[in-house]
Amino acid sequence: MSFPVTRLRRMRRSESLRSLVRETHLTPTNFIYPLFVCPGERVRKEVSSMPGVFNLSVDEAAKEAKEAKALGLGGIILFGLPEKKDEIATGAWAEDGIVQRATRAIKQEVRDLVVIGDVCLCEYMSHGHCGIVEKKKHNPSAASSQQGGTAAQPAAEPEYEIVNDPSLDILTKTAVSQARAGMDVIAPSDMMDGRVAAIRKGLDQSGFGNTPILSYAAKFASGFYGPFREAADSAPQFGDRRSYQMDGANVREAMREIQQDIDEGADMIMVKPAMPYLDVIAEARRRFDLPLAAYQVSGEYAMMQAAIQKGWLDRNRVILESLTSIRRAGAEMILTYFAKEAAKLL
Ligand code: PBG
Repeated sequence: MSFPVTRLRRMRRSESLRSLVRETHLTPTNFIYPLFVCPGERVRKEVSSMPGVFNLSVDEAAKEAKEAKALGLGGIILFGLPEKKDEIATGAWAEDGIVQRATRAIKQEVRDLVVIGDVCLCEYMSHGHCGIVEKKKHNPSAASSQQGGTAAQPAAEPEYEIVNDPSLDILTKTAVSQARAGMDVIAPSDMMDGRVAAIRKGLDQSGFGNTPILSYAAKFASGFYGPFREAADSAPQFGDRRSYQMDGANVREAMREIQQDIDEGADMIMVKPAMPYLDVIAEARRRFDLPLAAYQVSGEYAMMQAAIQKGWLDRNRVILESLTSIRRAGAEMILTYFAKEAAKLL
């Protein structure tokens, strides 16, 4: 029966009625709080493009972890800014790497908080890419020609490629060393093919058969990662990430990425970014039964913060509305820089 018998506004007349029929709820356990760990002691250096987000030394990160626990957050995820970068990402898998040290310190401070390790190489590579970089062989179809070929192509710029399979060993080493340091969950974000299988095998062979993998399964090459690259000092020194991260136009391919990671042994899956990709989250929720995460990334945070600071948006309302939308699309876990503030608001 339609209007005037049906009046949808009847159930909107008071907050108590509205909350009675509310379909989507947020709790602090939905939120995962990202931390950027840097060398030094008592360091809290604000990221200029992300007001309220800091580079934290290990001791400060441990304090944040304690607060995350007190607020009832679902967990934290760690990113590292190493002392030195090189061409084999030594800082990512070193036994005393920055993330490994932070994990041990946090685990000593708060035992029962879920600590997730972002596994990627870009922060630890001098070139800022997520895998090993090699000089591209020109004209790969001319397989017989020796190195250099004949018709000297005056390549104005050298061309490079991010090679897949050799990168898997380093990623696996990184995951295992994080697990050894006490990491609860391993979250590969590099987008190399086959990395979930490689990491699963590496963890199992090293005695970490019970450590789950949260795969950044559908990670898009996005302009919204800009501020993160300042926070994690991980901007690529040349080129971009489009040869390994997904094309933002593709939802069917995203489902193939997710399916593949599930087949390789992922325990949880992620879509990233969140707000510009709500349809991808919804489709993933419809198709797959694994726990689903979404990452409200640095650029989403930065643009909201900028408008909030200008007084153009109402802080509390847009924080909760954006997170509710991501929940409603189907993600039960949300990685968000608003985690602490949202938990306080609830
Ligand atoms: C590492 C990584 C990135 C983010 C998470 N892990 C950056 C990138 O892929 O360039 C982005 C997170 C954010 O923007 O908040 N590869």
